[in-house]
Amino acid sequence: MDLPPFLLNDWLESRSNLRFNLAGSTGPRWTMGDLVQLGDVPLDLADMAISYAPPAGTADLRAEIAAHHDVDPDWVVVTNGASEAFLLLLQALSRVGGNVLLPMPAYPAFTGAALSAHLEPRYYQLRRERQFRIDLDQVVAMADGETVLAVANSPQNPTGALLGSDDCKALGEGLREKGVSLLVDEVFHPVYFGEANPSAAGIENVIVIGDMSKAFSMPGLRIGWIVDQDAERRARIIRARSYLSLSGSPMTEALALHALRNRSVILDRVNAIAAANFEDLRRFMSEVDDILGWVPPEAGMLAFPWFRDGRDSRAFCEHMADKGVFLSPGDCFGMPEHMRIGFGSQTDGIALALKLIAQELHVG
Ligand SMILES: Cc1ncc(COP(=O)(O)O)c(C=O)c1O
Repeated sequence: MDLPPFLLNDWLESRSNLRFNLAGSTGPRWTMGDLVQLGDVPLDLADMAISYAPPAGTADLRAEIAAHHDVDPDWVVVTNGASEAFLLLLQALSRVGGNVLLPMPAYPAFTGAALSAHLEPRYYQLRRERQFRIDLDQVVAMADGETVLAVANSPQNPTGALLGSDDCKALGEGLREKGVSLLVDEVFHPVYFGEANPSAAGIENVIVIGDMSKAFSMPGLRIGWIVDQDAERRARIIRARSYLSLSGSPMTEALALHALRNRSVILDRVNAIAAANFEDLRRFMSEVDDILGWVPPEAGMLAFPWFRDGRDSRAFCEHMADKGVFLSPGDCFGMPEHMRIGFGSQTDGIALALKLIAQELHVG
């Protein structure tokens, strides 16, 4: 299968060690040393057998993920990142002539996974005139007899828009009448600088994906999960996983378990950094209001401003990378006049990075 170029990953891989990283979508950096030292008793894996983990994930990790989402542990399947979770779900649902409803703009791997599972991606637009919020009626109307799944992402990458609990329930219900389930990708949950939004796991007709990469800011663990109430579909997902990757690693599952058991420290840290950086971002956006428009994100760690004159942002992002500030061009999300600003990872210095951007915007 000839998949389209993954422009976002190509861009993120194109530079390294820049002074300021506002291009990625994770939170602050964690080292192995930081992680094992969390809690009262440091984690020691020296006696751990280097064996397979069960295909659905180790029981303790599933229970801790279930506690995080306040659901039944049986509903949880551990995966190699949210990426594998999405792929497994689509594989389990795939059928000839099937389609999947995806947001536009969105994390580009949604499209790649749909194509890999031989499903037609169909896009519903998130419009800035609607604060990038989902038009629920539009999504329900798009679902037809061949639709196998509708996908939402909340808090959203790249816009920072939220699908609130009431809207999520209404969308799940509207789709249920069409025989279609709703997947909510919650990898940025619970990073909320406004009012906290409960997880969608447990809402009827809703499947949830989460991971250790975004809110937990430990992408190198390659741990994700699916929370699915439907036992039959879950069995198909686990079977798909047994064929595709067989199992996760018991070592990384143990590290993820340790992180989740100490989640209040990890989540307090990312929330504090995102909230403080968001204030700097607000100030910056008002300074450059004549050049950039934006919809302030409602949650998460990403903003998606645009050039008011409609110019393609790539040349500017290249220029800023040369100056040591890494941003992501909007063409990676099919919207070239936008750029994505990640404000969750810089523990310090974001004000200076934004000042450098403002200077260059006003020069050019
Ligand atoms: C919305 C969203 N979902 C899923 C992923 C994949 O994450 P991972 O496979 O690291 O868990 C990403 C990565 O950027 C993302 O932004």
